[in-house]
Amino acid sequence: MYNSRNIIIGLIIFAGIFTFPFILNAVTASGAPEPSLDTPEINALSAKECILDTDYMTSNHMELLADWKIAVVRDGNRIFVTDDGREFEMSLQNTCLECHSNKADFCDACHNYAKVEPNCWDCHVGPEVLK
Ligand code: HEC
Ligand code: HEC
Ligand code: HEC
Repeated sequence: MYNSRNIIIGLIIFAGIFTFPFILNAVTASGAPEPSLDTPEINALSAKECILDTDYMTSNHMELLADWKIAVVRDGNRIFVTDDGREFEMSLQNTCLECHSNKADFCDACHNYAKVEPNCWDCHVGPEVLK
């Protein structure tokens, strides 16, 4: 005789394994934004790198910006040098938004999703003025 209980458990496990990728896909595909890197500046880069490593930028870009603001406004220092010797002007508009000129599809895509509204654009020039 077959053990019908085992067959049912087996069917449930099979159904779970079979549908798991679809469930995972549905969860990751909904909601979470994919900030676009499709800008002329970034497309022209030979190495697709941000100022610091991507993981750091994803979670800590606001701290880098805050450090820059202090360096410029308090110390009058406008040049940021990375560990590997690359130099950047510490400027929201001239540096971040030069590469990430698609503010709406990059910065805003994440911020709208995370429901954060940085007030920077009250004073700083955004790309809509640059274009
Ligand atoms: C030289 C061009 C360049 C400059 C300047 C630049 N970025 Fe980036 N940024 C990139 C590239 C290219 C990536 C994608 C890196 C990757 O895919 O690993 C990126 C990634 C990021 C990410 C992570 C995106 C994600 O999907 O998690 C954030 C956040 C970010 N940048 C913010 C900034 C901010 C804020 C500034 C200014 C302080 C800045 N970037 C300056 C080119 C630049
Ligand atoms: C990968 C998603 C992502 C991208 C891309 C991104 N941000 Fe953010 N940003 C966030 C999140 C999430 C927060 C809120 C973090 C928190 O509250 O701890 C945030 C917060 C900030 C803050 C601090 C806001 C505040 O009021 O404290 C600033 C400033 C900021 N982002 C600037 C930028 C700029 C400029 C760009 C585009 C060049 C950018 N971000 C792109 C996800 C992103
Ligand atoms: C009330 C107006 C105001 C607001 C709001 C504001 N800033 Fe600024 N910020 C200034 C002024 C003024 C300077 C000095 C400009 C200079 O000397 O180039 C400055 C300088 C900076 C600098 C260095 C130089 C530059 O041109 O980028 C950074 C980086 C910066 N701010 C980031 C931010 C970020 C990030 C936010 C939002 C969280 C923000 N600021 C919000 C007024 C403001």
